[in-house]
Amino acid sequence: MERTLVMIKPDGIERNLIGKVISIFEEKGLKVIALKKVKLSKEQAKAFYIVHKDRPFYESLTDYMSSGPVVAMVLEGENAIKRVREIMGATDPKEAEEGTIRKLFGLNKEKNTVHGSDSPESAYKEINFFFSEFELISAE
Ligand code: CMP
Repeated sequence: MERTLVMIKPDGIERNLIGKVISIFEEKGLKVIALKKVKLSKEQAKAFYIVHKDRPFYESLTDYMSSGPVVAMVLEGENAIKRVREIMGATDPKEAEEGTIRKLFGLNKEKNTVHGSDSPESAYKEINFFFSEFELISAE
């Protein structure tokens, strides 16, 4: 069993896609073991995306991620990190495969509706960024 952090980005919240996005993950057998809606400050968004601090899109990405509420959740399942990334599709919705969340709903590279952890190390850090141990209600 593995855990991963998923965020529904402000463009998903604005277009009332919370339920649809969660349904897609649930239909694939992933369990929601923690869930919250929050509005990140610019500083929090910068801290969350600190690994991208030297990338040209860092300022714009963190402005965007602090521009409106996000929904953060922890999904649990076998190979959850890799499966969630497959279900989300490529970062750029134009390159994402048919049926993926970003192909269905993503607007562009930045407003791509969902974020998912890219490795066990980032999953651990990102889960701890949003949740404390007592908020994680394992399905097992
Ligand atoms: P996410 O999975 O949230 O992780 C980092 C984010 O940076 C990524 O999704 C994109 O939204 C964003 N991103 C990556 N590459 C670019 C880019 N070239 N231009 C703008 N945003 C990008």
